[in-house]
Amino acid sequence: MKIIKVNDQVEGGQKGFEIFKAGLANDAKVFGLATGSSPIKFYETLVASDLDFTDCISVNLDEYVGLSADDHQSYHYFMKQNLFDKKPFAKSYLPNGLASDIPAELKRYDQVLADNPVDIQILGIGQNGHIGFNEPGAAFDSNTQEVQLTESTIKANARFFENEADVPTKAISMGIGSILKAKQIVLFAYGKSKAQAIKATVEGPQTTDVPASALQRHADVTIIVDEAAASLLSK
Ligand code: GLP
Repeated sequence: MKIIKVNDQVEGGQKGFEIFKAGLANDAKVFGLATGSSPIKFYETLVASDLDFTDCISVNLDEYVGLSADDHQSYHYFMKQNLFDKKPFAKSYLPNGLASDIPAELKRYDQVLADNPVDIQILGIGQNGHIGFNEPGAAFDSNTQEVQLTESTIKANARFFENEADVPTKAISMGIGSILKAKQIVLFAYGKSKAQAIKATVEGPQTTDVPASALQRHADVTIIVDEAAASLLSK
């Protein structure tokens, strides 16, 4: 794993931008994207740049079950606001949070991923080490799944909703196995609240208790961290 320490999210976003720019120059076509606060500055940097994704495909990690693409709390809406409306892709895929047949939707998304192998995957990380919405206990070889969110994730994500009771309790997420198929992975983590998860991801054993520790199995992972998120690393 390559660790890049940055002063702040602006510098982190710039590092991510450089990786995407190099990817485009090397014919990367499929970009795996993530939501959450951690990639926001990165998306701002992409939007402000002259990079062109109109020949490219994006595939997002996850979506809440029960929220439509127009719901302001949905990940689809987040992506439109932060990236797609300003920097369009030829085609952007996300799980459909309103799918009436969830097993069919999981299959559809696995097919999307099979048809569009991800060149570079962006990740954030949950305080409990989750990636996408793969909570502790998720199998390292999992495909797209419907997941029950943990109490701690619901609490952590409540800051984006008016009431904690409004936070959906389920989501559809790419599995850890799907994430590991990306050719290259870039994870952003900022702040003290991520320090424990980053230590466990980088220095801990590979364990399903820490979903992000599965990244140790991947040959090309870059972790972009600020001082606070890196503060528990021994080196
Ligand atoms: C959510 C998302 C994850 C994200 C995590 C951390 O649970 N499903 O993809 O990485 O939040 O979010 P933040 O970057 O806001 O801390």
